[in-house]
Amino acid sequence: MPADTADTADAAHSTTPTASGPRVQIVPSVLPVDFARLGEEVAALEAAGVDSIQWDVMDGQFVPNLTFGPAVIAAARRHTSLPFEAHLMVYTPDVMAAEYVEAGCSRLIVHAEACTHLHRTLANIRSLGATAAVALNPATPASAVAHVLDLVDLVLVMTVNPGFGGQAYIPTMEPKIREVRDLIERAGLAEQVDLEVDGGIGPATIAGAAAAGANVLIAGSALFRDPLGVPHAVAELRELATAAFRR
Ligand code: DX5
Repeated sequence: MPADTADTADAAHSTTPTASGPRVQIVPSVLPVDFARLGEEVAALEAAGVDSIQWDVMDGQFVPNLTFGPAVIAAARRHTSLPFEAHLMVYTPDVMAAEYVEAGCSRLIVHAEACTHLHRTLANIRSLGATAAVALNPATPASAVAHVLDLVDLVLVMTVNPGFGGQAYIPTMEPKIREVRDLIERAGLAEQVDLEVDGGIGPATIAGAAAAGANVLIAGSALFRDPLGVPHAVAELRELATAAFRR
């Protein structure tokens, strides 16, 4: 990866650790927003204090839903300065990667289950000037990332089966979150590699995920069902996660 793009991509998703370890980040999934007002919605999420934005890219094959093409993300790119990450729930990440980087995503998250040659796919994403990340479905063991931690800046442990928002959190994923956190720590990569969770994250579940080792927390429906509004939901989730992660 050319130095300038490496720096750019890394800086976009700064994992800058605080004095007491990795920074807790609250990141929205845009699945629940009004797609007819996408530009306004991402601007409102920035104003609400989120750290970056996650696009749940679904191909209708790897998961039974179909969502955002690169043109949609490129259109939203103009409405916020926040970093974008694309969660590629697709069977062909190698084919799609360049388009999503071009559309303005500085991190691409691929599923280990969709990659025949995961090591090569992650290296290819880095050569495009983005940072690379790998996601694990609930049934996939933590060991699947053991030999690629040097190629990623984030590991995503799914806490639902991918494809839809609004699903129930799977608490039995917490031991796996801990396993991945231990793999990152033992590799000496706590400052370089974040641990993200996605699915069913809300006030009742975020502390368990953070206490197990997650420092980047994706929330969709929980942000938009808070009667006090999205800014309140972001602040509450950040407070709960920070208290639990630091324990
Ligand atoms: C599943 C999606 C959802 C979404 C978050 O494929 O990735 O997990 O981002 O949805 P909530 O927060 O509503 O569970």
